[in-house]
Amino acid sequence: MSQFERKDEQNHPRTQVPEFTQMVEQSLSRRRFLGGAAALGAVAFFSASPVSRAIAAATGNSPLLGFKAVPASTADTIVVPEGYQVERLISWGDPLFSGVAEFKDKGGNTAADQAKQFGDNNDGMSFFPVDDNTAILAINNEYCNYEIMFPHQGKNMSAEDVKCAQAAHGVSVLTIKKQADGWRVEKDGKYNRRIDANTPMAISGPAKGHPLLQTAADPKGELALGTINNCANGMTPWGTYLTCEENVNKYFGTREQIEISPALARYGMAAEDAGFLWNRFDPRFDLAKNPNEPNRFGWVVEIDPKDPTSTPIKRTALGRFKHENAELVIDKDGHVVVYLGDDERGEHLYRFVSKGKYNPNDQAANRELLDEGTLYVAKFHAGQDGELKGKGEWIELSHGKNGLTKENGFASQAEILIHARLAATQVGATTMDRPEWVAAHPHEPVVFCTLTNNKNRGVKDNQPVGGPNPRAENHYGQIVRWRPTGGSHTAAGFDWDLFVLAGNPTVHGEGLYAGSANINADNMFNSPDGIGFDQGGRLWIQTDGKYSNEGDFAGQGNNQMLCADPDSGEIRRFLTGPIACEITGLAFSPDQKTLFVGVQHPGEDLVGSHFPMGGDSTPRSSVMIITREDGGIIGA
Ligand code: FEO
Ligand code: CA
Ligand code: CA
Repeated sequence: MSQFERKDEQNHPRTQVPEFTQMVEQSLSRRRFLGGAAALGAVAFFSASPVSRAIAAATGNSPLLGFKAVPASTADTIVVPEGYQVERLISWGDPLFSGVAEFKDKGGNTAADQAKQFGDNNDGMSFFPVDDNTAILAINNEYCNYEIMFPHQGKNMSAEDVKCAQAAHGVSVLTIKKQADGWRVEKDGKYNRRIDANTPMAISGPAKGHPLLQTAADPKGELALGTINNCANGMTPWGTYLTCEENVNKYFGTREQIEISPALARYGMAAEDAGFLWNRFDPRFDLAKNPNEPNRFGWVVEIDPKDPTSTPIKRTALGRFKHENAELVIDKDGHVVVYLGDDERGEHLYRFVSKGKYNPNDQAANRELLDEGTLYVAKFHAGQDGELKGKGEWIELSHGKNGLTKENGFASQAEILIHARLAATQVGATTMDRPEWVAAHPHEPVVFCTLTNNKNRGVKDNQPVGGPNPRAENHYGQIVRWRPTGGSHTAAGFDWDLFVLAGNPTVHGEGLYAGSANINADNMFNSPDGIGFDQGGRLWIQTDGKYSNEGDFAGQGNNQMLCADPDSGEIRRFLTGPIACEITGLAFSPDQKTLFVGVQHPGEDLVGSHFPMGGDSTPRSSVMIITREDGGIIGA
């Protein structure tokens, strides 16, 4: 694979269509999955009225979903339901401050300009209300597409190009104002800020200062520079933003002959980088020169969006891996619980439980809650007789427990957190089909996680078919759901089932690749990725998958966003994106009447998108604003 193909593979892997001759499908048939119906619908799962719920799913009568579905699309535009309108809020390269150059189409933006422009490839985002007409949007800028950013350079990168790319990464914090015609970005707004790959960040929690985090530039191991590959997000009730560092290995490499340690290899570090070439121009990313620098990435970073002078904080208690999002809930017992996915084939699902309790009457006292607590990793037990539901447990990743001892290579809690993946393997955690976003229901203790796809399932020895990962060479993905024992997010165990198996009933007819009963010819999709609830309890699903519209993906069109009723299991397509994009990132205004949605990497690999400006313009990742013409609640 070329460097660029490797990069692409890591950020939004193109799954392979399985060879049917190799396919090892489970003995379960689609009919049986339906028959166990149960598999569908919270009520079916949690109580005893599967029949009525199954009918609701089949007939499309969900009381939660009030919009007319949109068909699949391959057009280079964004489509929303009848009665809805969509506008552009901001695109890659738009200046956040006066005196900063406007975006230059076809390349040529300087690093200095990019450092004060909206970053590239927007991903997860959160809405922070300030007053009735003012709010803050904190938005991740995950990575960049060099073929679009530097069309004039090919692979002949310069130091200036690398600086520009570094400035396009990180987080953009925007002040937005509610005008007569809706929410708009305020240039020079009080909260406007760019955080990028060179912004100073405190390292905090149990791994702070550990020798593995020390570098020549920071001998104490307490102050890192920058955040990169910021995928999805989270927010806290004390008003901070959580940004999650995902494929951080892509930026590291070296031209020197070195041996990569097993620990670095487990995190995907290799002498050859993924094509970003930062290590050629910035020795911080050269593995031979700075072997500990990679340990300072792969964390969840907490940012105070209301204070543009604040120092972001890397919270090491939440573990180091390829973080997708950070779904934070306050348990009924007062502890802060954060659910965390590690998005790589055969990696794991984690849970952090704070030591302290949340105090709603003293937000200042909550500020350090993410520094002390216990990290756990999920083990799913297979259902009886192959049923797609069962029990699970959270295994503690604490020093001295569950084999996490010095003899087994874990000398301290800090080492467990820095090498969380190795610790998860040590304790026998379940290897998953790429855990992406986790979303907790706003009103009841039930949690959902997208497992986007996994071509290695049933192929690699450590990734057997079974439990919540029931399909070999899984190229469609699924959403697993669990209910903590006793309704407490801090409980040791849970019951799981599959909310949906994405698939293609038109191509496959029967069997697990057709998808679960709530998938039909009108709502099929592949590779669920972003998910989140609105306050009404609707589950929104965004996709990052194959958009070929051919073969196993025929009839699925471009990447899209759907809306589900978590009780009935009904899923309805809400939006379709432009060519070669991924739909990722969602945030609602508190009145639920404005939905902010991210369109990431339209036209990647130069496949011919000109979104959003049209003509022959450069395609640009953008945040869109969706409202109803009648001013009503989105989705209702
Ligand atoms: Fe950045 Fe796993 O998506
Ligand atoms: Ca993805
Ligand atoms: Ca994602």
